[in-house]
Amino acid sequence: MTVTPPDADARERTAERLLKASAKNSYDPRLDIDWAAAIDGDAAFLPVERVSLYGTGLWDGLSERQRRELSKHELASIASIGLWTEIVLIQMLARYTYHQDPKAAHTQYALTEIGDETRHVIMFAKALERMGCPTYQPPRVVRQLARLYKATARGPSVFAPVLITEEITDRLQRATMNDESIHPLIRMVNRIHVVEEARHVRFARDELARQLPRLGPVKRFVANTVSAIVGAIVMSALVDPAVYASVGLDPTSAARIARDNPHHQATRRWMAERIMAFLAEQGMVTRYSRPIYRRAHLL
Ligand SMILES: [Fe+2]
Ligand SMILES: [Fe+2]
Repeated sequence: MTVTPPDADARERTAERLLKASAKNSYDPRLDIDWAAAIDGDAAFLPVERVSLYGTGLWDGLSERQRRELSKHELASIASIGLWTEIVLIQMLARYTYHQDPKAAHTQYALTEIGDETRHVIMFAKALERMGCPTYQPPRVVRQLARLYKATARGPSVFAPVLITEEITDRLQRATMNDESIHPLIRMVNRIHVVEEARHVRFARDELARQLPRLGPVKRFVANTVSAIVGAIVMSALVDPAVYASVGLDPTSAARIARDNPHHQATRRWMAERIMAFLAEQGMVTRYSRPIYRRAHLL
């Protein structure tokens, strides 16, 4: 299927629309969330069937309380990795706007998105603090690679991995925000994020569709491969093995069991379903990139 890239006018119109939506519907997490609300003893933090060990013998051996605790730490890990990717994105968007006309609506939208992500980082950090969880970190080698990536990536190698990250977490947050078994504070954080991320997804999808047809075969190969590698790394980093220690499990062996857990692999594919369909439509899933996505269970 061929997709017609939106032209420059369409790009400005989209940006104008997103700027209006941002002015009308943005949140200040410091004011719009009741941070003092009590943390309910029975509420979970993730839908249980989305916890990485769900369906394994290890899971069967955990008490209700331990399961809830693990859901809290897995959510904290996803929020931590999420806010780390947002800090990476803020830097990449700032680099992008450096080369654009600040009078253009699309530049102003990119600047507005930097503002959104700045508030999101603070919102997730406050949620971690409120839950009494550590800020989980991606592995050291990933942190070092990200320094190189954020300083050099351009065009589709920025927008495709950003979309993968935003859309996989979005899928989980949408499933969580209306789930009555989840703690109200977490649902509110997710709801705010879903509303504002919908605009980011629109912007990045349009940019990607506009930029891809202009690439020659070599740049196209680089964009497809870099996007698959970054997407796979982010997906694999979402649950830090250290979370398992919170319920007394050995991080290394529990992480291995989670990795081999067919239920968890299906959750990863479910999270990636929408964005992978879009990337396939854009011709980014090729015989070189597909095995990378498969290995990380995005496909
Ligand atoms: Fe965000
Ligand atoms: Fe975003």
